[in-house]
Amino acid sequence: MPPLFLRNVNLVDGRRGVDVLVHDGRIAAIAPGLAVPESAEVVAGEGQLLSPPFVDAHFHMDATLSYGLPRVNQSGTLLEGIALWGELKPQLTQEALVERAMQYCDWAVAKGLLAIRTHVDVCDDRLLAVEALLHVKQKVGPYLDLQLVAFPQDGLLRSPTALANLKRALAMGVDVIGGIPHFERTMADGAESIRLLCELAVERGLRVDMHCDESDDPMSRHIETLAFHTQRLKLHGRVAGSHLTSMHSMDNYYVSKLIPLMHEAEVHAIANPLINITLQGRHDTYPKRRGMTRVPELMAAGINVGFGHDCVMDPWYSLGSADMLEVAQMGLHVAQMTSQAQMRACFDAVTANSARILGLAGYGIEVGHRADFVLLQARDPVEAIRLRATRLAVVRGGAVIARTAPATARLHLAGRPATVDWTLRR
Ligand code: FE2
Repeated sequence: MPPLFLRNVNLVDGRRGVDVLVHDGRIAAIAPGLAVPESAEVVAGEGQLLSPPFVDAHFHMDATLSYGLPRVNQSGTLLEGIALWGELKPQLTQEALVERAMQYCDWAVAKGLLAIRTHVDVCDDRLLAVEALLHVKQKVGPYLDLQLVAFPQDGLLRSPTALANLKRALAMGVDVIGGIPHFERTMADGAESIRLLCELAVERGLRVDMHCDESDDPMSRHIETLAFHTQRLKLHGRVAGSHLTSMHSMDNYYVSKLIPLMHEAEVHAIANPLINITLQGRHDTYPKRRGMTRVPELMAAGINVGFGHDCVMDPWYSLGSADMLEVAQMGLHVAQMTSQAQMRACFDAVTANSARILGLAGYGIEVGHRADFVLLQARDPVEAIRLRATRLAVVRGGAVIARTAPATARLHLAGRPATVDWTLRR
């Protein structure tokens, strides 16, 4: 493989106008004014942003691209989505699951999304989806890191074979232990499911990522139990609470105790802005709740917060295109994170923060790291979110694996420039 040379790029940490040299798939040098090796493939950065790849901390690849099968979610609610998925499950075939997942991974690569944590439903005794996604994981491995979570969608204790199936899935090679305590029959069963799953994680040396309190009910407080068992079992930094939407409606006094407990246990939080804003608050009239967890408050307390896409064209959500900048943009709006620092934090939520949640080694544009990055048609992270920037080039291990032509438009107006410039130059 010839060396790759990126001339004049900006980096997320604020370095501007540097060159990046890649040798043998690894970043060999980062500095301004580097000499170009003779045989190098040169990419002209022109002051655009070179970012580490996007990372999706929360996704459902077994359901993706199934929109309309066997019918559309009429109410738009989470519970009708779960019921619809239950109708679809017996009709799934491994071929169709693999095909849809592979297509989604193509979309992801084109958008510079090179690491995805996907939950996979284990409440189907055939474990078809587990087999299919393990196959996909292996197929896409050379260019995309897929991490699988064994997810008991119908409840670990509520579904009679869920625990046995979850253990079978782990034995087959699934990476992470999932759960859904708020969907168990009672609060007590929810708490018990957390205890069982966290103890299993210790036994197997695995990470945990639970759908937790995906509800508008402020009394859904399973995150407290998750933080407790994380701390008790010394699983610090290895546990994530996904969704945590009930926190948006919790009493402020209670939250003032809860957030420090989450911080103490080093529990990661994952919000799914596109899905939270559309699925939550469905029983409200007005005022209508926004449905997302307390992202700025969690971040301010030092808790690592990632954003996930959660769904793309499936029983829960009819839109989406593997674009993590769309996710960041929605998160920014829903959380009202409009300061420069907060907007940058939303960019981190779909890159570095989510990489931490997945435990990705060697993530980030540093000398010695594998040369994985995406060149965006924007000069900095805020502009990237604002413009949902075009992914000019996506690089994995030093090889360009996707390119997109720059977004441009020609004007046919007398006295105006021939092309549009969307930047604000000061
Ligand atoms: Fe989810």
